[in-house]
Amino acid sequence: MKHAAIVGIGAYLPERRLTNADLERMVDTTDEWIVTRTGIRERRIAADHETTSSLGAEAARAALGDAGLGPADIDLIVLGTSSPDHIFPSTAALVQARLGCTCPAVDVMAACTSFIYALQHATSSIESGRAKRVLVIGAEVFSRLIDWTDRGTCVLFGDGAGALVLEASDEAGVLGIELGADGTGADVLTVKAGGSAFPATVERIEAREHLVQMAGSEVFKFAVRVIPEAVRAALASSDLSVADARWFIPHQANQRILDTMADRLGVPHDRVFSNIANLGNTSAASIPLAMNDLYTTGNLRPGDVLALVGFGAGLTWGAAVVRWTKGAR
Ligand code: COA
Repeated sequence: MKHAAIVGIGAYLPERRLTNADLERMVDTTDEWIVTRTGIRERRIAADHETTSSLGAEAARAALGDAGLGPADIDLIVLGTSSPDHIFPSTAALVQARLGCTCPAVDVMAACTSFIYALQHATSSIESGRAKRVLVIGAEVFSRLIDWTDRGTCVLFGDGAGALVLEASDEAGVLGIELGADGTGADVLTVKAGGSAFPATVERIEAREHLVQMAGSEVFKFAVRVIPEAVRAALASSDLSVADARWFIPHQANQRILDTMADRLGVPHDRVFSNIANLGNTSAASIPLAMNDLYTTGNLRPGDVLALVGFGAGLTWGAAVVRWTKGAR
């Protein structure tokens, strides 16, 4: 059986920065509250002309360039997002057209866990022999789903995209993946209206039901419970333990969640990567953006074991263990 190995990585961030000082002028909040409760200092916001597919395509172009490959070399695109350009066509199809690829393309929507679910889809396609080179993208323009009058959510999220190129290899890159879902927790984090259950109407839009609604403390408790379990399970299915992982790369939702994760896994806080201060929660994009930060700063070495973990609405969660087989930057 062939394995899936990472041969390219790339990212794209919109230029505009929204700082906590900017938010102080928009809602009843303070920089001190946001930094203490979340660790976030600023986040990127897409320009009016940018969309999830445009951000995703930029990240994918960077990953293809890093791999030394072109659009014709890719035979599947799997894009994870919670802020698709449209309900349909898929954002992946729009990215395919932007890149000039001709391969199949599909969206995976598991909220902030979308990237891990997308990685599973891509890895399975390679391991089954159905694909040789797959673009896996996490892309979000989450700012368009935010209620900018709700201080409980608007301080948390940002926009961005990250992408990997996976290639069939004799060397194992992606090792164990463990996914989970619990739909009984659907109500704690939701964009309720705009789909077939609650089609967009003037009343629903006036009630802001087309925007993110969240019970923050419920999500917090869920996250700190499932993250260590998922990470341990993915490491165990890779015949590895917590001590073998050089980097833990969690979905960047809240610095306090990341710190609790480190404590519950019994690892030093500096092995749990964080760029949340600069980017906030970029949902499906946060894990590939974090991997790209580690790569471009020279912090990934061949052979390093990375434990990725995502969690979010659904409820959904998932962890993946990856051996970095690409060279150091
Ligand atoms: N500025 C100032 N005060 C704020 C605020 C803000 N931006 N947002 C909420 N508050 C207030 C609340 O209104 C509440 O006031 P009250 O006690 O007078 O009612 C108080 O702060 C405490 O609110 P609470 O929701 O209990 O705070 P918290 O410590 O749980 O922190 C979150 C709130 C959202 C930061 C935290 O729950 C969290 O990060 N949860 C996880 C969210 C997440 O990661 N979501 C995405 C998952 S993919």
